[in-house]
Amino acid sequence: MKLLAANGPNLNLTGTREPQIYGSDTLAVINSELKERFPAVSFEFFQTNSEGELIDKIQSVEKEGFDGVILNAGALSHYSYALRDAIASVKRPVVEVHLSQVFAREEFRRTSAISEVCKGTVTGFGKISYFAAAFALSEMLKK
Ligand code: DQA
Repeated sequence: MKLLAANGPNLNLTGTREPQIYGSDTLAVINSELKERFPAVSFEFFQTNSEGELIDKIQSVEKEGFDGVILNAGALSHYSYALRDAIASVKRPVVEVHLSQVFAREEFRRTSAISEVCKGTVTGFGKISYFAAAFALSEMLKK
């Protein structure tokens, strides 16, 4: 099984940016824990601060042979209709994840432009949000 773990704007700063909200593990640590916890999964890790690059990557999911996507789109989750349309165009399941509990934060974070076109959402468990999404996808996609 091949999964894409994609991260959008500012997620490259995870570990040092507002650690009281996002935790002190870097994205590299989270990614290597994903690999350790799901040895049967072949992961590709992708991070970009650019909306267009994230959309290009989502558009390429089928062509690149991914079975599913773990996606933390950062703030784009809250307002990017272009990203939403890209997710809707893909036939593979996309799971929306957030490190923080977005529903317990500012009003603008309580809206997601992408949830409706995602298979599910995991929010608020720190790095465990990614592990829960990987678990859900690997169970769902089991043959
Ligand atoms: C985030 C939550 C978003 O509101 C924020 O803009 C981020 C990170 C999270 O992982 O908690 O960049 O997606």
